[in-house]
Amino acid sequence: MRIYIDTANTSDIKRIITKFPVDGVTTNPSLLAREKMNPMAQLKKIISLLEKDMEIHAQVLSSSAEDMIIEADYMRRQLGEQIFIKVPVTHEGIKAMKELSKAGFNLTATAIYTPMQAVMAAKAGARWTAPYVNRLDMIGANGVQVAIDIHNILTQMKGKTGLLAASFKNVEQILKLAEAGAGAVTVAPELLEQFLYHPLTEKAVTDFTNDFECITAKGATMKGL
Ligand code: G3P
Repeated sequence: MRIYIDTANTSDIKRIITKFPVDGVTTNPSLLAREKMNPMAQLKKIISLLEKDMEIHAQVLSSSAEDMIIEADYMRRQLGEQIFIKVPVTHEGIKAMKELSKAGFNLTATAIYTPMQAVMAAKAGARWTAPYVNRLDMIGANGVQVAIDIHNILTQMKGKTGLLAASFKNVEQILKLAEAGAGAVTVAPELLEQFLYHPLTEKAVTDFTNDFECITAKGATMKGL
């Protein structure tokens, strides 16, 4: 399962990519707005922090398909080959994705709330489909189940399109998608940092250190013995 960081904050990105094995960064217009910088300059700054094989996902803002295509082309020229263009699954968005996929753009279909929207995005040539798990839960739907349904349908379709689930509030939601074989998830930095948390892990490390120091010295390691 690929794991992306869902943020436009460069401090968070630096901290996470230094320590965790992640595959890229997803942004959306709201996350970029939170940084109070020129959004294109901010995206360039983010790309400068990434390895060459990492993806950066950024969304078009135009409302007509024609303008989305022009905007996506501009974004790719500005941001390079690592860019995945996020396009919402509106009528105009699907129309734009049909053309952009033919022109070889990497596409992430976004703002997905139903499996049928994901099917249409897959047919239009998107590489990733991004349902919003927690936002579905918030309206009384089962976000994890919708994401699993999308994954199963995409698997049946046997195309290039995968599930990139977004909008999480806890680790359990993500684990259920990992069990179901999800292609990718994008996770806020503070939730990503909870992935490794367990008090007994901390305790085990402390106990081992204390035992080792009993026969060596305070702060001793294998190095130098
Ligand atoms: O890009 C969409 C995704 O980031 C939404 O997440 O946490 O705002 O529901 P959230």
